Amino acid sequence: MKIILSLVLLFLHASATILENGQVRENPYPGQAQKVSIGEKGWKTYKPDAAEISYKGRWDDQHISWWSAPGIKFAFTGDKLALSFGKNTDQGVLVAYRMGGLDWQFSNVTADATYQFAGHASAGVHPTASTAAKTFEMRGVSVAGNSTLTKVKEYPKTIEIIGDSLSAGQYGTYEGLSSWAYTFAAGLGNAEYSITAFPGICLHDQECWGNERGQAYQWYRTADTSGRARALYGEDPPKWDFAAHRAADLVVINLGTNDNNTENNVSGTNYVNSYVSLIDGVHERWPKAQVVLMSLWGGFGQVGDTYAQGALYIDEIKAVNEHYKEDKFVHYFDTTGILQHNDIGPQWHPTDVGQIKVASHLMQWVKIKFGWEMEATGPEVLHDTLYWNDESSY
Ligand SMILES: *[C@@H]1O[C@H](CO)[C@@H](O)[C@H](O)[C@H]1NC(C)=O
Ligand SMILES: *[C@@H]1O[C@H](CO)[C@@H](O)[C@H](O)[C@H]1NC(C)=O
Ligand SMILES: *[C@@H]1O[C@H](CO)[C@@H](O)[C@H](O)[C@H]1NC(C)=O
Ligand SMILES: *[C@@H]1O[C@H](CO)[C@@H](O)[C@H](O)[C@H]1NC(C)=O
Repeated sequence: MKIILSLVLLFLHASATILENGQVRENPYPGQAQKVSIGEKGWKTYKPDAAEISYKGRWDDQHISWWSAPGIKFAFTGDKLALSFGKNTDQGVLVAYRMGGLDWQFSNVTADATYQFAGHASAGVHPTASTAAKTFEMRGVSVAGNSTLTKVKEYPKTIEIIGDSLSAGQYGTYEGLSSWAYTFAAGLGNAEYSITAFPGICLHDQECWGNERGQAYQWYRTADTSGRARALYGEDPPKWDFAAHRAADLVVINLGTNDNNTENNVSGTNYVNSYVSLIDGVHERWPKAQVVLMSLWGGFGQVGDTYAQGALYIDEIKAVNEHYKEDKFVHYFDTTGILQHNDIGPQWHPTDVGQIKVASHLMQWVKIKFGWEMEATGPEVLHDTLYWNDESSY
């Protein structure tokens, strides 16, 4: 029998407390893997470049992951599985992993160590990026000596999401694994996905919140804008090899919230011009991709006896959409009315519920607009969102 293991890297510390409105969440990280030595006999190890291992999202040629929620996936037989992490793996990287469609589990891992993950069959790994940028370096997969690793067939469709912290799930309870981007793409259940999102980044190519470059430049690069990437690659990170990877069928862009901030002050003109240049760049690489521009929800403030939304760059994004009217591959997804003031947390990012609302509406819109089906009809997508009330007599 083969088992499928899915694994997502989160850049939270496993010892970090998850607070739910000030209450400590109990047991938020079940599944800590045990450190093992594969020097012991009875193991068979596959190198990180083994054809059986599929890499999801952006990885460099040292098998170091970048951006939000990258992963690995493979199937394995037998009754034991271990993953080895290289020297570039940061302290405190949290790995979310699961067998098949069962519930997500979490394990913190360290550099130069091998961990045994409970379970058996096929595996997928997805790490995510946050401001506390961490890296994950894959060094190998080991299974029982009489077991094998096999490649998992890919989903027929591919999705690319280009964004900032709002798409990377910053301040979500499980960060990337709580983001609308992941919820949307994994929720469809029939698509491979890559989330090229990084906290604080602008669309326009300028320094924003410590990110030296904007997505108009960085999206073409393998690495993100973290200090870690800078330390490894300096000012000229490797170019992403688009030709070596499947083209995206659907590209969703949510960018501009950082541009339209008094800390960064990108003018409307620069924003529009950079947006058009980014879309041209996407279209040049993936001529068949449908490109969706997501409107920016901004923030909410009290006005009299209710709340009002301060949406951002409305005219600008509509102008970008209008620019491509004749081309038909650019579409406008209006988020107006999806989020209310209490869907945004104190740190200006959507709550888990807010993320889910954005994802759910986008899924249905994509189904109606492009005829995509929602095929995740069972596997867990979001972890620890099971709230219930079994009180009947209240
Ligand atoms: C993993 O997290 C647990 C729980 O916080 C902690 O006790 C343990 O020391 C951590 N292990 C590593 C290898 O960081
Ligand atoms: C693999 O080896 C283990 C340990 O010797 C054994 O228990 C198991 O039955 C073997 N599995 C197969 C499929 O041969
Ligand atoms: C952005 O513009 C506002 C309004 O003109 C100004 O108060 C602010 O200092 C500017 N910010 C920067 C970083 O230049
Ligand atoms: C945000 O965009 C609006 C136009 O949509 C513009 O009027 C405003 O000055 C911008 N603010 C900043 C800080 O960029």
